[in-house]
Amino acid sequence: GRVRHYKFDVEYMIRKPDCLEHVVMGINGKFPGPTIRAQVGDTLDIALTNKLSTEGTVIHWHGIRQVGTPWADGTAAISQCAINPGETFHYRFKVDKAGTYFYHGHYGMQRAAGLYGSLIVDLPKGQKEPFHYDGQFNLLLSDLWHTSSHEQEVGLSSIPFRWIGEPQSLLINGRGQFNCSIAAKFINTSLPQCQLKGGEECAPQILHVEPKKTYRIRISSTTSLASLNLAISNHKLRVVEADGNYVEPFSVDDIDIYSGESYSVLLTADQDPTKNYWLSVGVRARKPAIPGQVLTALTLLNYQTISASVFPVSPPPVTPRWDDFDRSKAFTKKIIANIRTPQPPPPPYSHRRIVLLNTQNRVEGFTKWAINNVSLTLPATPYLGSFEFKLNNTFDRKPPPENFPSEYDIFNPPVNANATTGNGVYVFQLNEVVDVILQNANQLTGKGSEIHPWHLHGHDFWVLGYGEGKFKAGEDEKKFNLTHAPLRNTAVIFPYGWTALRFKADNPGVWAFHCHIEPHLHMGMGVIFAEAVHKVKNIPSQALACGLTANNGRHN
Ligand code: C2O
Repeated sequence: GRVRHYKFDVEYMIRKPDCLEHVVMGINGKFPGPTIRAQVGDTLDIALTNKLSTEGTVIHWHGIRQVGTPWADGTAAISQCAINPGETFHYRFKVDKAGTYFYHGHYGMQRAAGLYGSLIVDLPKGQKEPFHYDGQFNLLLSDLWHTSSHEQEVGLSSIPFRWIGEPQSLLINGRGQFNCSIAAKFINTSLPQCQLKGGEECAPQILHVEPKKTYRIRISSTTSLASLNLAISNHKLRVVEADGNYVEPFSVDDIDIYSGESYSVLLTADQDPTKNYWLSVGVRARKPAIPGQVLTALTLLNYQTISASVFPVSPPPVTPRWDDFDRSKAFTKKIIANIRTPQPPPPPYSHRRIVLLNTQNRVEGFTKWAINNVSLTLPATPYLGSFEFKLNNTFDRKPPPENFPSEYDIFNPPVNANATTGNGVYVFQLNEVVDVILQNANQLTGKGSEIHPWHLHGHDFWVLGYGEGKFKAGEDEKKFNLTHAPLRNTAVIFPYGWTALRFKADNPGVWAFHCHIEPHLHMGMGVIFAEAVHKVKNIPSQALACGLTANNGRHN
């Protein structure tokens, strides 16, 4: 592989991503940041300069496992110190697996502020994917608020608690249209038709296709909150990749995509080439802010035989009902490992099982999310440095609980809403096989249970299964999929359900495992895994120059 050098300057910029002016975070003057394109085996060397004047920053390379380079994972207070204003940090890591990935800020709520971009890893020249396509597109999906990420952050950590609410706009490759619709004349909406000429920052990027050809559409979601559904009218989508792993292909009319996930779908331009078609992305799993009005982002699939300015003759696809969770589950369960490509099956058994109960709680009057009653607050000294220098007083040395009381009723609000904050870690031995059962539960007050997409750093895990209600050891584990379990880096838990994952602790480092909904992580919805950290070698001193590790005078 070759070394690819990038220079990334992170800054705040004024842009019009949804036709209105906002302050967003960008890289090298771009929002979203530049797309990184590399080949398997390449080393990426990214010199990231913090051009923000008053806050730190880091960038996480979502889906890249960072084998041997845990210090380059880009998680503030976990793998490194936040990069100070004016400073440059060098991320240097290998991309070892082809796939559709993305990168994003992992400090405070900088992802919500717009700090993200795409990262695509191609197979080496001469190697073939297990499917054919003639061309490809890349769609990075995100959501946008008209309040700043700072305002959101303060609201979430205030008494009384202020929720961020639903996004104002959805963006496809950083483009959306607020308060107007490019399909207004086709749908039952109060929104006016957008008046766009095509050159605007907020004008949709059109997908130009040639009749009869097949295209690979890479789709990833870096939303702060929204669960999405994507559909293209009249066309089937054939799902072939999920989170950088080949899946057993299947065809659907639309796909669900949660924050932290990525997919590749194949589309064959086999419809009437004298027409154009809508591509629609709409919100699912949360009730729309305006009843009945699904927040949507649109663009066009243009058959190059005709002009892109010709309007489709039929309305855009309708996003499935937000609360049709049976439909969401049916889609999610279709994803299994590709049987024609060599993918390791999960180890047949695990050494250890950790059951993580997800609850909304209160800590001293603040509204939080907690895992087994502990709400995560990150320490001032990054964990990786604490382990490296054997510092004993930088985080809670007592590991968090591996289970929750068996009498806990997941179908009702917690009897005692009070949780504690903590920053202890789950410690794993090298090559330990770990099962994680993510258990969903009722919210803090009233009846209800939300969706949470959980993302693991440093690994792909096998998804062994999804179930309803409280996980029952013995009975439920008999139903685990041990033959075609898909490898992923993000998996969702459905309302009142559980999701079972397995991974092998074979990547020394300190890794975050958390809900990918940005405000939920901010409210403590995550845990920390420390894996054989004594094996980690060659941490650049730059990654450790803060907190109590700053004084250790290391030189490289
Ligand atoms: Cu994409 Cu820890 O996140």
